[in-house]
Amino acid sequence: MTGYSNDPIRTPLCDLLGCDVPILLAGMGGVSRWELAAAVANAGGYGMLGMVREDPSLIKQEVTALRAATDRPFAVNLIPAATKPELLDAQLLCCLALGVPAFTFFWDVVPAAIERVKQAGCLVLHQVGTLQAARNAEDAGADLIIAQGIEAGGHVHGRQSVWDLTAAILAQTSLPVVASGGLATGADLAAALRMGAVGIQCGTAFLATEESFAHAYHKRCVVDAGGADTVLTDIFVLNWPKAAAVRVISNSVTAGLKGSNLGHDPADLPRETIAWDGKTPRLRYSTDSPLRTTTGNLEAMPAFAGKGLDAITDIVPAASRLNKLAADARYSIAHSSEATS
Ligand SMILES: Cc1cc2nc3c(=O)[nH]c(=O)nc-3n(C[C@H](O)[C@H](O)[C@H](O)COP(=O)(O)O)c2cc1C
Repeated sequence: MTGYSNDPIRTPLCDLLGCDVPILLAGMGGVSRWELAAAVANAGGYGMLGMVREDPSLIKQEVTALRAATDRPFAVNLIPAATKPELLDAQLLCCLALGVPAFTFFWDVVPAAIERVKQAGCLVLHQVGTLQAARNAEDAGADLIIAQGIEAGGHVHGRQSVWDLTAAILAQTSLPVVASGGLATGADLAAALRMGAVGIQCGTAFLATEESFAHAYHKRCVVDAGGADTVLTDIFVLNWPKAAAVRVISNSVTAGLKGSNLGHDPADLPRETIAWDGKTPRLRYSTDSPLRTTTGNLEAMPAFAGKGLDAITDIVPAASRLNKLAADARYSIAHSSEATS
């Protein structure tokens, strides 16, 4: 067990969230379902369900399944700024009725959503890509900031590196800060702790695990590609606000852009079904990534991944990924203190 009190990687984050090691599973839409969240939480990390724009019936199903698989605390990830108000209202109502203990929000700060769940006694983690958004989240009552750097997989809110943004938020807000974006090794965790962050959040590193709900094709792309194979583009934008950029592994769609990766207007893009999840069509240029349940042209869908890809060379159980990250961070900390003593 990793939760002993003199663990060099234990931080106040572990007490705040009720985990043993300061490693958060990112609330990846579609990918972070109950199986992955339970595996991370049961191994001592902190689990999140990625429920962006999901119907309340699925949220209820996932929360119930997660609770059956672990008694560890967890958060539900929602994106208020990219969700229609009626759906967001229904999602929040559902989560509060289920007694969800914590939320992670992302993208533009929506103070009303933060205030509503804080009033219900929930913990609020807010992922941001800019210092201004961190300040807004702090003002609105968030408990913790996740600083997302440009290296991140999936939607990328800001344009600063994870280290620069983490340093700026640490210096200019009084909230605990978790670093996120391209972080996939124990050395990354050790570096984050050294600069004063209370932990790291990982998406891509947990996507390539047995329990994640990503399609095997997506997991294989993550294993085979390197950080230099990723691009930041807003071509995958149907169903998100204009100009929302994502980091993906390059594919036939991004190759066709011939370097014009940014500046696409959703109004100019054709609506063409290229894949299906059951009876739900998936459009070319949408932000839907291939899931276990997806059939069709998977290659043309966005394979979200961050710049930490070089460290991810196999598909393993999530507990193995987490345990190795933690062990390598302890080693890194022990060796850097030997070097300075
Ligand atoms: C497949 C995938 C889906 C994502 N979906 C979401 C999401 O629904 N909500 C969210 O807050 N962040 C989402 N993100 C971004 C993560 O929260 C996080 O910033 C990112 O994974 C960190 O970079 P990394 O992937 O290099 O670890 C997603 C990332 C990936 C890779």
